[in-house]
Amino acid sequence: MAYHAYVFDAYGTLFDVHSVMEKIHEHYPDKGSRISQEWRQRQIHYFLVRQLANGYRPFSEITEWALRDALHFSGADIHENTVKDLMKQYEKLSPYEEVNSLHERYPNHTFTIFSNGTKSMLEPLLQHNGLTDQFGLLSADEPKVYKPHPDAYQFAQDNLGFEKEEILFFSSNPWDITGAASYGFHTAWVNRNDQKWPELGIEPTYIIQDLNEIPE
Ligand code: LAC
Repeated sequence: MAYHAYVFDAYGTLFDVHSVMEKIHEHYPDKGSRISQEWRQRQIHYFLVRQLANGYRPFSEITEWALRDALHFSGADIHENTVKDLMKQYEKLSPYEEVNSLHERYPNHTFTIFSNGTKSMLEPLLQHNGLTDQFGLLSADEPKVYKPHPDAYQFAQDNLGFEKEEILFFSSNPWDITGAASYGFHTAWVNRNDQKWPELGIEPTYIIQDLNEIPE
């Protein structure tokens, strides 16, 4: 079926969160990979905890908290200018290779990003990568409710103005696909590393390896 809206998660789906690793290696040569993994895992864990506790705090804050703890638990010294430098780098993450040609390959599609990130993080990221004109932008920071809570996807649907089944939602994150699918969107799990779909009691509509071909 042709969809009316193609909606993308940002971090991990369009942008490689581990592309910050190079900058981490500059500051912590032998700890880059450990810090990067810890940072992403803690970032997800912390916003999920805040959402469940009904205590929304902006993703920019949560990302910095997760960074500080990732450095601490990786045994790395924490210097304020390093934290600032790494947070700034989060606005320069690399898009996955096929993202740059998405709009040119699908000129008649409407593409929208729906992310837990704040606009203050996402706008510079899109600008840095020359992608500002290729995606609409919705941030969970507007309703102050994080994906995978159903109210977050309701916010996105209200802004898009289509029926749930007319919206195809893409994410590399199983927690995000599970939230979107439970809400009623059709979903495409972007499984770049050929992982097993976790037992979450619900399946994606599609499983795709990358964004070279997107389901119609
Ligand atoms: C996003 C990340 C948190 O919402 O998956 O962009």
